[in-house]
Amino acid sequence: MSPGTDLHVVDTGPEDGLPLVFIHGFPFHQAMWEPQRAALEERYRVVSYDVRGLGASPVGDGQYTMESFVDDLVGVLDARGLGEVVGCGLSMGGYILFRALEREPTRFKGAVLCDTRSDADDDEGRLARADAIRSLKARGHAPFVERFLPRVLSPTTRRTRPEVVETVQAMVEGQSILGMCGCLLAMAARTDTTPSLDRIKVPTLLVVGEDDAITPPSVSRRMAGRIPGARIEVIPDAGHLTNLEAPDAVNRALEEFLAAPGGPA
Ligand code: MLT
Repeated sequence: MSPGTDLHVVDTGPEDGLPLVFIHGFPFHQAMWEPQRAALEERYRVVSYDVRGLGASPVGDGQYTMESFVDDLVGVLDARGLGEVVGCGLSMGGYILFRALEREPTRFKGAVLCDTRSDADDDEGRLARADAIRSLKARGHAPFVERFLPRVLSPTTRRTRPEVVETVQAMVEGQSILGMCGCLLAMAARTDTTPSLDRIKVPTLLVVGEDDAITPPSVSRRMAGRIPGARIEVIPDAGHLTNLEAPDAVNRALEEFLAAPGGPA
């Protein structure tokens, strides 16, 4: 079977609209982009998919790499007849998009990189992934969720948006442990795509939550300084999951970017 053709994909909006391809973060699934789909599908073709091992996509043997994730992304585009798209990736979705921009630059008309980073894990980060794998295998989702939620959601979201906290928790608890471990290993082994930032030739928007504790605004500012012409939006009161925590602000930033003169449209 060709890569990507067995993944769970949701494809809505006008068939001839500018295709926007959304790649979710870890350990979530494509439904995390529902607020963006609702805002954009009238005008744009909105494609989102579950990364292998997560959501309703197959777990398979549980062994993934950033390369196999990019193979899957290209497979999703090919299977739908999508030539050039605007890619939008959050966190791990951003890691996939950075590598795809490096490896398959002709497939993109624009890039939106949310709450992500181009550099690879350092040793401390790799050891933290190994620890997460050990804990997931021995004790299941609960300790992971307990540690993870305060890191990904801003204090404001946790205080004022219980429904977002519940949605995020349910997404994580529904994931396959084997799939999660496979993603952790793929992230730990990813390459540093920072050296190719200045070769990104398409209009690029960076979005980051003001309170993002995992990929803070300073990281996005640094990347924006290296990507020619990149725009950056820092979203107030949002943590690492900006698109869920502050959907209106993120949708506004996306709409402005897509419609801007010299933008991807
Ligand atoms: C994500 O949201 O995709 C993860 O926090 C990324 C990571 O663990 O590096």
